[in-house]
Amino acid sequence: MEKYVIRGGKKLSGEVVISGAKNAVVAILPATILSDEPCIVENLPNISDVTIILQILSEMGAKVRMINKTTVEIDPRTLQNVPVPYEKAKLMRASSYFLGTLLGRFHEAHVSMPGGCNLGDRPIDQHLKCFAALGATYNIDGGMVNLTADTLIGNQIFFDKNSVGATINGIMAATKADGLTIIENAAKEPHVVDLANFLNSMGADIIGAGTDVIKIRGVKSLHGTTYSVIPDQIEAGTFMTVAAATRSNILIRNVIPKHLEPITRKLVKIGVQVEQYDDAVRVIGGEDYTGTTVKTQPHPGFPTDMQPQMAAVLTCSKGASMVTESIFDNRFRYVDELRRMGANISVEGRVAVIEGVERLKGAPVKATDLRAGAALIVAALSAEGVTEIYDIFHVERGYENMEEKLRALGADIRKVDEPDPVAAEHTARKAI
Ligand code: EPU
Repeated sequence: MEKYVIRGGKKLSGEVVISGAKNAVVAILPATILSDEPCIVENLPNISDVTIILQILSEMGAKVRMINKTTVEIDPRTLQNVPVPYEKAKLMRASSYFLGTLLGRFHEAHVSMPGGCNLGDRPIDQHLKCFAALGATYNIDGGMVNLTADTLIGNQIFFDKNSVGATINGIMAATKADGLTIIENAAKEPHVVDLANFLNSMGADIIGAGTDVIKIRGVKSLHGTTYSVIPDQIEAGTFMTVAAATRSNILIRNVIPKHLEPITRKLVKIGVQVEQYDDAVRVIGGEDYTGTTVKTQPHPGFPTDMQPQMAAVLTCSKGASMVTESIFDNRFRYVDELRRMGANISVEGRVAVIEGVERLKGAPVKATDLRAGAALIVAALSAEGVTEIYDIFHVERGYENMEEKLRALGADIRKVDEPDPVAAEHTARKAI
């Protein structure tokens, strides 16, 4: 059982290089299934979600070859339409992308209901609505989502909910459909645009990604490509909050500053200094911050994936802050953990009210999901004393070499592997 042990209170300095975007690459890798030729994907982050997707592709019969640490070649020509089982699908939300991509290529898909972070109810009704509009029939049987279609025919789809996953699945299935598909109320997140750019680089005909309306004219075949994944907006944002919380001066490189603007705006509002360069931002923490209001919104609003990390910064900002989560039902599970560190936060429904305290104190805490884990790291680095963060496998799903990157900035962080006390007890009992 691995945990992070962090001694907080140190000022950090130096540079950190941001890796490829998790939420883009987890769509791009399954999308290679639509290609008729091998594809090379560059700027691959070394995170466990990527490892799992590559395993799924490999188990389906694709030829997966790491060219170097950040570049993979995927030859999907030998891939068979094998069901994506529960053991893999339960590990991440992005397993749902095999629905769109297998449907696009084989007109048939069998994928266990997707897992991922527990953020409240996460239905897939909009994904299914989209597949049905393109001509597929579906059923859910024994936890398996089954899709079949004789042919896929372009259609006009209006999403009732603005959904990243449904937009990406819709684009992938429609890429190989006959005729024109128009997706309205589409998600505009940078990773949606990256997926569309990736498919276009293989010969797809997708316009409007990044706006509310995306038009996809189906094509018969897609050729191979070499494509570099965009930098991770949320990893960059997380390091921005690390700099803010620890009152440090950090240069964050390999970013698209435009993608960071909603985060930059909030940090500047509370008193953090942010300098923008072409592909980097420098974040200079101040001594005192003021409380503020944060409301998560689809892009270009403040990202829900940065809500916990921003809340961690606000725990020590002067006065009251109000954080409203408008995307997910239950994204405040980290609050109990921050309270263990001395934060003064009350939650009512989708609103958290934070009364700033002078300083957090280290404590044993548990990452309840990926960004919750990131928020605890932000809090621990600024807290007095030692914090132990358990369940860090959540963090490793989405952050490449987090502890090494932080250590290079001067943080006192170690990854410690200690025996699971419950498992040890179990083994001891069996021995008796
Ligand atoms: N929703 C529905 N029906 C659907 C789909 C979504 O009601 O069919 C609802 C969801 O319950 C939620 C809202 O719509 O309330 C938005 O969900 P969305 O589909 O946009 O989220 P997602 O595709 O499941 C992706 C990211 C999340 C990120 C959200 C929002 C990936 C793999 N995951 O999830 O990332 O929070 O978009 O931006 O891209 C993370 O990286 O930590 C993470 C959770």
